Amino acid sequence: MTVKARLAERAREVEAYLEGCLRGRGIPDRLLASMEYSLLAGGKRLRPVLTLAWTSMLGGDPARVMSFAASLECIHTYSLIHDDLPAMDDDDLRRGRPSNHKQFDEATAILAGDGLLTEAFSLMAEASFKHGLPAERVLRAVGVLAAAAGGGGMVGGQAVDMAFTGRAEVTLEELRRMHAMKTGALITAACECGAVLAGAPDRDVENAREYGRAVGVAFQIVDDVLDVEGDTATLGKPAGSDAAMGKSTYPALIGLAQSKELASGHADEAVQRLVDYEGAGKTLLADLARYIVDRVC
Ligand code: IPE
Ligand code: IPE
Ligand code: MG
Ligand code: MG
Ligand code: MG
Repeated sequence: MTVKARLAERAREVEAYLEGCLRGRGIPDRLLASMEYSLLAGGKRLRPVLTLAWTSMLGGDPARVMSFAASLECIHTYSLIHDDLPAMDDDDLRRGRPSNHKQFDEATAILAGDGLLTEAFSLMAEASFKHGLPAERVLRAVGVLAAAAGGGGMVGGQAVDMAFTGRAEVTLEELRRMHAMKTGALITAACECGAVLAGAPDRDVENAREYGRAVGVAFQIVDDVLDVEGDTATLGKPAGSDAAMGKSTYPALIGLAQSKELASGHADEAVQRLVDYEGAGKTLLADLARYIVDRVC
C-alpha cells in the first residue's frame, strides 16, 4: 500500500470520529452547520494522523487518544476558516468548496472558528474523563497544544505573516521563524502530544518534538511551492494566491529549486529522529515525512 493510501485509511478513522464529535453539545443549528461544513469537508487529516502514529509507535492506545487527535483537527480547521477571511488571505475556495465566509457570512465564519477552537478544549479534556487516559498526561498535552496554537505559536505566526505581507525585505531567517510558528508549531505539538499521551519517557517526547519541528517547516515550504506549481482543482484552494497577495514565501525568496531542496533536507532530519525505533509504526512516520515533501496537494 502506498503512503498516500495508508494516510487516507487513517484519515478515514479520524473522519468517522469527527462526524459525531460536535453533536449533542447545544450548538445552535446554523453555527453547527458552518462548523461542520469546514470540519467535514475533507482535508488530509495530517495532524491527527501524526498524533495517532506517534502514540501507536510508542505503545499508547490510539482509541483513547482519538478525541485529543480530533481536537487538533478542530484547531487546524478554525485556523483555515480565519486564514481565508477577507481581512486575512481573502481566499474564496477551501478544501474544494466555497470558503466558510462565502458559504455562510463573515460573522458566522468568525464564530465557527471561535467555536471550533473552544470545542477543541472539550475534546482534549474528554481524553481523560471519557476515554480514561491519566489526567496528568492529558493536562501536560493540553499545555503543549495550547502553547503551540496561541500567540507564541500558530496565532503569532499568522500575525507575523500579515505583517510581512507586501514587505519586500524579509530575510530567510525571519521566514523560517514565521513558518515554524504559523504551521510548524501545530504539527510539532501533534507529534509531541502523541508521545506525551502514550506516557513515553522524555527521550521519546523529544524525538517526537524534533521530528515534528522538521516536518512542520518542510510542510509549509511545500505549501508555498504548491501555491506556485499546483493547480486549483488539485489543491482545492486557489493556486497563485500568495503572489497575488504579496506574501513572503520560500519560492519568492530563494526560488523553487532551492525551496524543494530545503524541504527535502528537513524531511531527512525528521527521519533521523526515528533511528531508535522499528516496525510498522516507524515505517509509517518515515513515509509520512517523505510524503510531506512529495505531495501534490
Ligand atoms: C493548509 O494545511 C494550511 C497550512 C497550514 C499550510 P493542510 O494542507 O494540512 O490542509 P488540509 O487540512 O489538508 O485541508
Ligand atoms: C496558513 O498558511 C497557515 C495557517 C495557520 C492556516 P497559508 O495561508 O499559506 O495556508 P493556505 O495556503 O491558505 O492553506
Ligand atoms: Mg495565510
Ligand atoms: Mg492562506
Ligand atoms: Mg499557502
